Amino acid sequence: TQQRITVIKGDGIGPDIIDAATQILDKVGCDFAYDYADAGLMALENHGELLPQETLELIAKNKVALKGPLTTPVGEGFTSINVSLRKQFKLYGNVRPVLSFKGTKARYEDIDIITVRENTQGMYSGLGQVVSEDGTEAEAKSIITREGAEKIVEFAYELARREGRKKVTAVHKANILKSTSGLFLKVAREVGERYPDIESAEMIVDNTCMQLVMNPHQFDVIVTTNLFGDILSDLCAGLVGGLGMAPGANIGEDCAIFEAVHGSAPDIAGMNLANPTSVILASIQMLEYLEMGDKAERIRTALKDVIESGDRTTRDLGGEHGTTDFTAAVLERL
Ligand code: NAI
Ligand code: MG
Repeated sequence: TQQRITVIKGDGIGPDIIDAATQILDKVGCDFAYDYADAGLMALENHGELLPQETLELIAKNKVALKGPLTTPVGEGFTSINVSLRKQFKLYGNVRPVLSFKGTKARYEDIDIITVRENTQGMYSGLGQVVSEDGTEAEAKSIITREGAEKIVEFAYELARREGRKKVTAVHKANILKSTSGLFLKVAREVGERYPDIESAEMIVDNTCMQLVMNPHQFDVIVTTNLFGDILSDLCAGLVGGLGMAPGANIGEDCAIFEAVHGSAPDIAGMNLANPTSVILASIQMLEYLEMGDKAERIRTALKDVIESGDRTTRDLGGEHGTTDFTAAVLERL
């Protein structure tokens, strides 16, 4: 039967980069049926809410979604749509790979790091957010469970094994955040012992930031809690040429949402300037998840050739072209 994919074009640069990705998926003969759904500002205008029920139902029905960036209005009491989606579908694993391509403005070559971020707990659980009545004190609750920590660390080691990787580094701040990060580290050590074929390392988060900048080649797979994973994965994106190069997969027990790490880029929205690479790489992750690895590889090869030859690349990559020219260059190679 034909695979149906729920597609959320999203806000800002979303529609442009999602169209690039679906054109490429069609070109390699994926034969997907797309169910388009609204979320974000578009949904607020059309349905009066940021995350309409019918969108949730379509994601639940198809179990695989490709999603553009969504703008969460600041203040006004809106909770982040991305956080809601991750909680609603229990998308506990956020896989954010970064891979160097030659010909970008990146400082390094040969970077190949996967950050596995716990996606539902910790500082981003949204629990216990209170500001005192007089506005002088604010608090939030951070919860780490043994089950949650075990699930994400095992997920990271399984991924490492499957992809033939050598090392998993657990990143933490157990020296200061003794309860939460302490439990995460304890569980990470226990799980690591069950994978003797893979090297286990641990590192404190602030040192990890410095090490990533100074000597990134020591890293292979990083596993960490929600907040640290959010920050470290953007840092990793910076190692390979910026947010336009960074995809992310949100994986749950029976549902997965694939997206770019970056946001809706309002500063360049509607200008045909966005680099679609991150969403194209997210669709490659989606194909691998759907066990269509041969098609994923074909797209990766074409994309790599466009970027490395500098044929019609976008401005963030040092080129002079727009989203549509870049996409045409990839499509030609397919
Ligand atoms: P952003 O990621 O949208 O933009 C940061 C900078 O990177 C901007 O200068 C932008 O032009 C550039 N950039 C981002 N993607 C690019 C691409 N594909 N090609 C070329 N340049 C690119 O972050 P910002 O400005 O902090 O957030 C804007 C909005 O996006 C906010 O409403 C935020 O809530 C939302 N957001 C949504 C996310 C999601 O849906 N996954 C993730 C992060 C932010
Ligand atoms: Mg982020």
